Amino acid sequence: PVPHGSGAPDDGPDEFDLLDTRLFADDRDGDVFRRLREDSPLFWNPGPGDEAGFWSLTRYADIEAVAKDATRFGNGEGTQIPSRRAEGNGPRQIHNMDAPDHGPMRRLLTSTFMPRAVEKLAGRVEEVTTALLDEALELGEFDFVKVISSRLPLLVFAPMLGVPTEDADLLLRWTNESSSEDPEYSAGPETAAKAREELFAYYAALSEERRGCPREDIVSTLVQSRFRDAPLTQDWLNPYYMVLTVAGNETTRNLLSGSVAVLGQRDLWPRLREGGPELLRTGIEEMVRWMSPVVHMRRTATTDVELHGRTVKAGEKVVLWFSSANRDERQFEAPEEFRLDRTPNRHLGFGAGPHFCLGAHLARMETRVFYEQLIARDIHVELLGEPDRLLSNWFRGIKRLPVRMTQG
Ligand code: HEM
Repeated sequence: PVPHGSGAPDDGPDEFDLLDTRLFADDRDGDVFRRLREDSPLFWNPGPGDEAGFWSLTRYADIEAVAKDATRFGNGEGTQIPSRRAEGNGPRQIHNMDAPDHGPMRRLLTSTFMPRAVEKLAGRVEEVTTALLDEALELGEFDFVKVISSRLPLLVFAPMLGVPTEDADLLLRWTNESSSEDPEYSAGPETAAKAREELFAYYAALSEERRGCPREDIVSTLVQSRFRDAPLTQDWLNPYYMVLTVAGNETTRNLLSGSVAVLGQRDLWPRLREGGPELLRTGIEEMVRWMSPVVHMRRTATTDVELHGRTVKAGEKVVLWFSSANRDERQFEAPEEFRLDRTPNRHLGFGAGPHFCLGAHLARMETRVFYEQLIARDIHVELLGEPDRLLSNWFRGIKRLPVRMTQG
C-alpha cells in the first residue's frame, strides 16, 4: 500500500473527510470545495481505516487536464473511492479500463449513442413521458423520484438494452443496491454482491437468447461483437451490462430531480416556459453543471507527476471532483448562480477526455423531451418540501422530492 502520500496531510481544512458521505447529503460539500480550490488545490485525504489515502483535485483546469491525460493517469485501478466499490464492480467495466482495451471496447457502442441515433429515440421518450405525466396528474401530489425520475430513464433505456420494460424495476433495484452506500438502498457489501450476481445471471440468460435470435438492441450488438480477435465472452459482457444499467438510469434520474428542485427553489419556471428551445438547450447544460450527478471519478498516476509544486507518486490515487470543477470561480462567472442562459458553459458534468460520458446525448435528449412536454402541456410543478439527498460522494442523488403537479 502507498504510505501517507508525498504531501503533508495537514495542509488543508482538517475538520472534514471527503469520504464522509454526510458532507454531501447535507449539502456542505460546496463550502469545503470552495476552500480547497482556494487554499489546497492538491489536497491529501487520508483513506478509510488502513487503506491508502488519495489526492483530491478541485480546480477546473487541473481536473480537465488530468482527465485528458490518459498516459500519466489511468483508470485501470478503479475509478471510485473507496476502492472496494470499484473492485466489487469488476475491473472490466469500461470506465475502469485503459488503452489498449478501452478504445475498442468503447467503439462497440459509439454509434448506438451518437446524436443521430439517439434522436431517433425521441418518439419513445415522448411516449414514456406522456404516460408518466398522465399518471402524475392523476395523483396530483406525489414523490417526483418514485413516480417520474426513477422511471423515465429506465423505461427508455431498458428497451434500448433489450430488456423488457416489465423488468425495469429489477434494473432499478440492482442499480440502487450495487452502486449506493446509502443504507436505505443497500444493506452493505453483501447486498451489493448479491445484486451484481442477480444482474449477471439475468443478462447471461438474455445474452444466450439474443445469440440465437438477435434483434436491434444493445445486448444483441454486444453478443455479436468481437474483441481481441474473438467474440466477447460473458466475463467481458457482464461488466459492460453492469455499467450501462447503472449509468443509464441513476445519473439521468438525479439530473431530472435536481433540475426540478432548483427551478422551483429559484423560481425559474416562468423564464424557462417563455424562453423557447434555445433557452431550454442552454438550460439543460446549466442543469448538468449545477447538479453534477457524477460527483467524482478517480485516476491512478502511472508515473511521478509534479502538480502544484508537489509530487504525486506513481501508483497514488488522484480523485477528480467534477462537482467542484463545475463551481470553480476561475472558470465560471458567478458559479453559485443558476443561469438558464449561461454561455459559454464548458462544464465537466460529463467528464472529459477518452472516458467522456458515452450517454451524454441520450441524457440531454431525455431531459429535453421531458421539459418540452411539461411546457407544451402547460403542466406546473410546485415543490412541497426539500429534496431528501442520497448519502454518497459518487452520485449526487435525490431519494425523494415531494411535489404537486397541476395542468393549466
Ligand atoms: C462516463 C456523467 C448519463 C454511460 C461518465 C462520466 C461522467 C458521466 C462524469 C466519466 C467521465 C470521465 O471519467 O471523464 C453522466 C451524467 C449523466 C450520464 C451527468 C446524466 C445526466 C449516462 C447515460 C449513459 C451513460 C444515460 C448510458 C446509457 C456512460 C458510460 C461511461 C460514462 C458507459 C464510461 C465511458 C468510458 O469510460 O469510456 N458519465 N453520465 N451515462 N457514462 Fe455517463
